[in-house]
Amino acid sequence: MDLHVRTAGSGDAGTIAFLHGFPFDGSVWDRQISGLPPGWRGLAPDLRGFGRTPLAAAELPAGSDGVHAVAHPDEAVLTMDALASDVARLIERHAAGPTVVCALSMGGYVAFALRRLRPELIRGLVLMDTRAGADSEEARDNRRRMADTARRAGAESIATAMLPSLLAPATHERNPDVVARVRRMIEGTSPRTIIAALAGMAARPDSSPDLPAIDSPALVIVGAEDTITPPEDADAMAAAIPHARLVVVDGAGHLPGLEQPEPVNALISEFLTKL
Ligand code: MLT
Repeated sequence: MDLHVRTAGSGDAGTIAFLHGFPFDGSVWDRQISGLPPGWRGLAPDLRGFGRTPLAAAELPAGSDGVHAVAHPDEAVLTMDALASDVARLIERHAAGPTVVCALSMGGYVAFALRRLRPELIRGLVLMDTRAGADSEEARDNRRRMADTARRAGAESIATAMLPSLLAPATHERNPDVVARVRRMIEGTSPRTIIAALAGMAARPDSSPDLPAIDSPALVIVGAEDTITPPEDADAMAAAIPHARLVVVDGAGHLPGLEQPEPVNALISEFLTKL
């Protein structure tokens, strides 16, 4: 699967691949790929099924309870492994060597899968508003309900349901452009992709046991007002990764790269230039 990808920069100093969250697309990183330090190349793909990349033949893993609780038997499932395999091919095609991976929420689940499949491709990790654990039963129930909403009422209803918790209250009050942009991204995602990704996320394994073995440099970023992947979870994740640094970004919810692009770009630049 060829992913649609935004690129910027020469790559003389290295490459950073940005993995978006659910249900967004690579444009969620526009401010980051245009703000990289000199010599760094940014890749911001639309993961399979999102943005301008078609869903095509997504994989259906047999016999996983998490999957069958969310997707119907005739529906596609986007496993985190399938998304990670696409990203591995992208890195091989566009980067000269191991790549820094900067991953938001579902993108983080993909980054953990990539690390299991192809650890040699990863030069450093920026984990943003994500978690290492698998879904609880309650989280899977929520995904099942969300999949029903997507089937019945489409992506607009998903946007309306998700928006209040995605962004910090101050973003909702003072940054209508960001609110409108996030709504457009969600509404631009097909219900088929939404269901497939919900099923894939419900079936993902627990990555917590992998954290102590992460030997690349790591930066954990979280919005101070993120209620989806809260700062306490980010703190625990950072504590389990050797040498990880945790930074909490004020005035941001679940999408700090959009809500507070300047401090986030400064953190990424500092991380890259110290590698
Ligand atoms: C995301 O932003 O990617 C989602 O919150 C991830 C999830 O639903 O677990």
